[in-house]
Amino acid sequence: MIKPLLIAALAFTVAGADAAETPDSLMTRYAAAAGVPAAALSAERGAAFYRSERPGRDGKPASCSGCHTADPKQAGKTRVGKRIEPLAPAANPERLTDAAKVEKWFRRNCTDVLQRECSAQEKGDFVAWLKQVR
Ligand code: HEC
Repeated sequence: MIKPLLIAALAFTVAGADAAETPDSLMTRYAAAAGVPAAALSAERGAAFYRSERPGRDGKPASCSGCHTADPKQAGKTRVGKRIEPLAPAANPERLTDAAKVEKWFRRNCTDVLQRECSAQEKGDFVAWLKQVR
């Protein structure tokens, strides 16, 4: 368990300097960090994860779709009303191409919605789902 995690942490450090990433390469990294084959990542679990409402910090329900909307091909909105470009690569080809950016926002948004960081499995499932949204 420790070894794949270390390798994945190193891989992310290297990827930070060299930003060319794809949804598939991200899935490979997250699967390795979770200790499962990439084929074991589940778009279905990723979709459920994206939509599920959890008790937010202020008591109001929070979810990924709360800011990014139910359809990730649509533009979303922050809580203060600032526009967020669509999250799905089908609508926004810049998405899931920069590992450092993806990690930064997973950290922020997972902490916001779940009050903890997302696991590698959750991130992998999420990418598996988002990349196939059409
Ligand atoms: C409070 C509003 C908010 C919530 C809730 C939220 N996000 Fe985000 N998300 C943002 C903003 C703002 C950005 C960065 C702005 C941008 O890239 O357009 C972002 C960017 C991202 C990115 C970067 C993608 C890329 O390649 O550019 C990912 C991944 C992401 N969010 C995933 C999630 C997930 C998973 C959840 C649920 C656990 C979530 N977000 C919940 C506001 C939110």
